Amino acid sequence: MNAPLAAGQTSRMIDLHCHILPGVDDGPTSLNESLKLARFFVADGITVVTATPHCHSSIHLLRSDILPHVSAFNRELKAAGIPLIVLPGSEIQAFNSAAYRREFEADVFCHLGDSRTFTLLEFSWSEELFPADSVELIKWIRERNMRPIVAHPERHHYFRQRPELLQPLVDAGAWIQITVDSLLGNFGPEAKVFAERFLRTHRDAILASDAHNTKRCSGLSAGYAWVTEHLGSERSQDLLDRAEMVRMSLMAEQATIPTIQSKAG
Ligand SMILES: [Fe+2]
Repeated sequence: MNAPLAAGQTSRMIDLHCHILPGVDDGPTSLNESLKLARFFVADGITVVTATPHCHSSIHLLRSDILPHVSAFNRELKAAGIPLIVLPGSEIQAFNSAAYRREFEADVFCHLGDSRTFTLLEFSWSEELFPADSVELIKWIRERNMRPIVAHPERHHYFRQRPELLQPLVDAGAWIQITVDSLLGNFGPEAKVFAERFLRTHRDAILASDAHNTKRCSGLSAGYAWVTEHLGSERSQDLLDRAEMVRMSLMAEQATIPTIQSKAG
């Protein structure tokens, strides 16, 4: 049974960025830990998550790697009686636009929900690897009718120091994913200030946990509560409505594409 929900909180929250699959990347190392995280999510009011293991230079997980893990974990959730739906996805790092485009066109990436609607895009932690043509890359993705969601820019020192790098990405159509732990100050004051400022000045944002385990996860309800307290209930509701729109879109697409089970074959 879910925990009581705070005012304004929905019982159908979706987390679009989390590392919940056991033994796949730098998330939980055991099935028990993943199930513990799943129970935490359910108690938090989350019903759907997109599992987003890393796809970067050292952990380069593609849809053929990810889909079987998602299928297997959904079976474990069902067996454990945990009412959480896990959809496929990945956190795809773009440090070389040409390489990104090549893999995108080869259809090897696992976008959110394994669909062609939303994709979670991360930039390198190193400014030297931030592509000079990142705006063109965002436009290129948008031309393919997909919405890139840029993962946690508030945690990247170069976006904080040079916000002029981020604004053109937003202008080109990217949405921005803010991590709840940033708002709560768990990644330091600079990330917190940047995240708050962004949410005050931009509508195109999504809250996500970027959970890696039960210790590195504050859930989503704490994030929406923080926004309600500091930015008002209207802003919090707007963020919830946007996430709900994504949830409905991804769930609707699950019915139109082959099942995760059959795709994992
Ligand atoms: Fe992540």
